[in-house]
Amino acid sequence: METHVGHERSVGTPSHASFHRLSSQMEAHQNDIEQVLITEEQIQQKIAEVGEQLSADYEGRDLLLVGVLKGAFVFMADLSRHVRLPMEFDFMAVSSYGAATQTSGVVRILKDLDHEILGRHVLLVEDIVDSGLTLSYLLKNLRTRRPASLEVCALMQKTGVQQVPLDIKYRLFEIPSVFVVGYGLDYGERFRNLPFVGTLRPEVYRDAVS
Ligand code: PRP
Repeated sequence: METHVGHERSVGTPSHASFHRLSSQMEAHQNDIEQVLITEEQIQQKIAEVGEQLSADYEGRDLLLVGVLKGAFVFMADLSRHVRLPMEFDFMAVSSYGAATQTSGVVRILKDLDHEILGRHVLLVEDIVDSGLTLSYLLKNLRTRRPASLEVCALMQKTGVQQVPLDIKYRLFEIPSVFVVGYGLDYGERFRNLPFVGTLRPEVYRDAVS
């Protein structure tokens, strides 16, 4: 649908027809979900709690949130609005080199930070920690830039699969080692905008392969 910025038609609620079209598409999207692992309410409640904790821990400090794209953008947006402090934002985008080099923990930086972090209090925001190799690489890389402090806030950590020891100060949920989508996480770039985290029905993968 075309958006006319500044035009009267772009403001307010969508027409009935387009609303029904959108909501039935969302329904079909949600039918691809096998099981909801973390509900919207659970996510929002935990974010509010961690937001309080961060507000206390970073009081009087010059806080910089660094989001790891793309997955972290939904979590980061909600989290930041629960931290009652002035803060700045920056982003990195990284990509694994592939199976052969994943074990070495080498990731390719697709987009680096826009600004230096020397002397800044940096909070790295991740959606999920799986093998931990991405995070481990990022922490090593960012430490060389000599921030005043560097901590991690991860929405989820998979239990028992980390290949490297990691110190994650703020971790909202531990989940089993299953493939999850929603709340920033994708399968083939879809499902990121679901407000909860869940697993996909097996036929969704099958249909994608065939
Ligand atoms: C996910 C996630 C982490 C990484 C974790 O990103 O956002 O950055 O994988 O995996 P690891 O602990 O095994 O290193 P993904 O590669 O799916 O990219 P995306 O966020 O752009 O979807």
